This record gives sequence, structure tokens and C-alpha cells, in this order.
Amino acid sequence: MDTNLFAAIDAYIDGLFVPADPALEGALAAAAEAGLPEIQVSPGQGKLLYLLAKLRGARRILELGTLAGYSTIWLARALPEGGRLVTLEHSPAHAAVARRNLERAGLGDRAEVIVGAALESLPQLEARGEGPFDMVFIDADKGNYTAYLEWSLRLTGPGSLIIADNVVRQGKVLSPEADDASAAGARAFNAALAAEPRVEAIVVQQIGAKGHDGMAVALVR
Ligand code: SAH
Ligand code: DHB
Ligand code: MG
Repeated sequence: MDTNLFAAIDAYIDGLFVPADPALEGALAAAAEAGLPEIQVSPGQGKLLYLLAKLRGARRILELGTLAGYSTIWLARALPEGGRLVTLEHSPAHAAVARRNLERAGLGDRAEVIVGAALESLPQLEARGEGPFDMVFIDADKGNYTAYLEWSLRLTGPGSLIIADNVVRQGKVLSPEADDASAAGARAFNAALAAEPRVEAIVVQQIGAKGHDGMAVALVR
């Protein structure tokens, strides 16, 4: 595969559809400065998440896996006046960078970063009466994706969108190595999603600046 060509096409698409943006570029610079891994969604994927949130008319969005808040900024920008986003992040260091990035993007008032393992934060969110969410973006540890699907269904309602990143893993999802919890998690998640009667869903294979991967898109019945 010509990975240079795929990256060049991503740059071409981003050049056309993703204008230069100080808040997003500042978020990436702050993430790099803090030594965070460069595993955020690509600019084009961010724009796609933003468009999906707008298509859904999402007023409440839940994200699992914040990192530096790059995808969070895209999603929070799609909210209407009075809309709210909650994002769950295990690493206090990542959350601190994300909070600064969200503040700098002018989104500190509508996006809340909750620190902790998502499987501990999710029951707390439910207990405090959060939800239903109109959209969930699953992008935390891939080994727990099937559990995150179950929680997403608990915290959404009919017409809600559930999106999950990294469900193809450079094709490793076809036959995960014994020590690859991420690929195994993605494979189990895709099987659970396909068998889940409460959603209609598809996996979109993607290739570009982030390599070969894919996003699952599910609509809650
Ligand atoms: N959504 C981000 C990228 C997230 S990367 C973006 O596209 O901009 C995955 C993140 O999930 C990392 O920051 C990692 O610390 C976090 N994470 C890993 N395990 C987690 C868990 N159990 N609960 C919550 N977050 C977790
Ligand atoms: C990883 C995580 C991601 O969310 C991603 O988009 C790419 C890679 C990772 O943990 O390796
Ligand atoms: Mg991801």
C-alpha cells in the first residue's frame, strides 16, 4: 500500500475542508509539548465527528478517552447554545492538558473532563442522573470496548449515535495476536455490535494520515 499517497490525500482533503484553526493547532502543540502520544483523531476525522454530532442535533455528548481534548474540541463545537459534553479520561496528566486546551478553545464552560477509569466514572455518571446522551464517542482503552458499548446503551436513547474509533487496527482485527488486547477488544466489540438488537450499525474502514483503521457507527433503535 502506498502510505505516502494516503497521507498526501488526507493533507489534500484537510486543506480543502479543514481551515487553519488556532485552537485545534494549539491543542496539538500543547499535547506534543507535554509529551502525550500522537494518537488523536486526524483533522478530517475530527471534522467527521463534528458533522455527525450536528447531523444528530446532539445537545448532550459523552466521550470516553480524552487525551489532550482534540476530538473533544471538535465534538463540543458541534453543540448548540446550552449543550453539554462530558469526557472521561484515566490519566490526570492527559486531563490537565485537555482542560487547558478546552479553556483556550473557549469551551471550558460546556465541556467537563472527569478523571478516572471510565468503568468507574460511568456508574457515577448514571447515579448523578446524567443522560440520555445524544451521541457517545468511544475512544479509550480498546480492551474494554464491549463493556463501553453496554454502558453507551444504558446512557443513550432511541435515535442516539454511538461512534467507536480504532476498530480495524491496521487489519489486526481479522486475527488478533494472543498478546494484542486492543485488536482482540476491537474484534469482540465489532461482534457484539453486529449482534446487538438495540442498534443498526456499520464499520467504516479508513486509511490516511493515521494509517489503516476504522470507525464503527451505530444508531440506537
Ligand atoms: N479521543 C482522543 C484520543 C484518545 S486516546 C482524540 O482523538 O483526541 C485514548 C485515551 O484514553 C488516552 O488518553 C488514555 O489515557 C485514555 N484511557 C485509557 N484507558 C482508559 C480508561 N480505562 N478510562 C478512561 N480513559 C482511558
Ligand atoms: C491508540 C489509541 C487511539 O485512540 C488511536 O486512535 C490510535 C492508537 C493506541 O492506544 O495505540
Ligand atoms: Mg482513537
